[in-house]
Amino acid sequence: MAETSRKEPITDQEFQRLVDIVYKEAGITLQKKRDLVNARLATMVRKRKLAGPKAIIQQLENDKTGTVLVELIDALSTNVTHFFREDHHFKFMKEVFLPNLVGDKKKERSKTIRIWSAACSTGTEPYSIAMVVKEFFESLAGWDLKILATDISTKVLEVGERGIYSQKEVQTIPKAFLNRYFNRLPGKGLEKEYQIDAEMRKLVTFRRFNLLNPQYPFQRKFDLIFCRNVMIYFDQATKNKILQNFILHLSSSGYVFTGHAESLGRTTIGLKHVEPAIYTKA
Ligand SMILES: C[S@@+](CC[C@H](N)C(=O)[O-])C[C@H]1O[C@@H](n2cnc3c(N)ncnc32)[C@H](O)[C@@H]1O
Repeated sequence: MAETSRKEPITDQEFQRLVDIVYKEAGITLQKKRDLVNARLATMVRKRKLAGPKAIIQQLENDKTGTVLVELIDALSTNVTHFFREDHHFKFMKEVFLPNLVGDKKKERSKTIRIWSAACSTGTEPYSIAMVVKEFFESLAGWDLKILATDISTKVLEVGERGIYSQKEVQTIPKAFLNRYFNRLPGKGLEKEYQIDAEMRKLVTFRRFNLLNPQYPFQRKFDLIFCRNVMIYFDQATKNKILQNFILHLSSSGYVFTGHAESLGRTTIGLKHVEPAIYTKA
């Protein structure tokens, strides 16, 4: 625990105030995570050279630009992710989604594919999607493929845009994909680094987007929406609003993928359960 937080621990009232702000702004419930809040705030207090958590609240209250709020959410969001996490979704993409999509697009005389990674963290999810699609088509010539990668946290979006990962982070990427789609960089010291190549980076657009926004500003419908391991932090009412927005922005034969630990059950209005953590429009 940082020195500052030992000197001036968070009071019940301050804790509640921060929990309320983060819930209102990002939908993240931290009520039962006092230790996590304390530890993450201590880092923010140190970085901003403040006396303690109370000063963060004061800065938030005088924050005209929203930067303190962005930093607070960056500090308190949990960004754990890895390449090809929950592999079952990527298998379903290869075996069901992409073959069907080609048939559907042929019927529609369309060559447009839109996929959204809707809580993309450091980019491991959208780049895993890009690799699977690229492998399936071999050549994307003639196809208009765009993968939108959004997150509320600016720090993870910056990592995604750079597309540079450590030796440890690339461990879950199949060797053939790592050789084909990544360039080895000199790295720092003994630790090697890998950057996803420019062609793959071009397929993915990173943007800050809060899933709590009442309206989603996307013009084209998505063929596939990944929203994994984020709804676990939201209460049922928030989840329902987000899901209704997904339904509005999903193509008629599109799919929504959720994290396996946050299965929506079989009765979410407007969505039909296909397989665990895979849904389509009802
Ligand atoms: C645990 S990570 C999951 C990343 C990836 N989807 C995966 O399954 O590996 C959760 C991500 O959700 C983001 N997040 C939390 N609240 C959000 C919100 N209200 N809107 C958008 N993203 C949010 C966090 O910043 C974090 O990067």
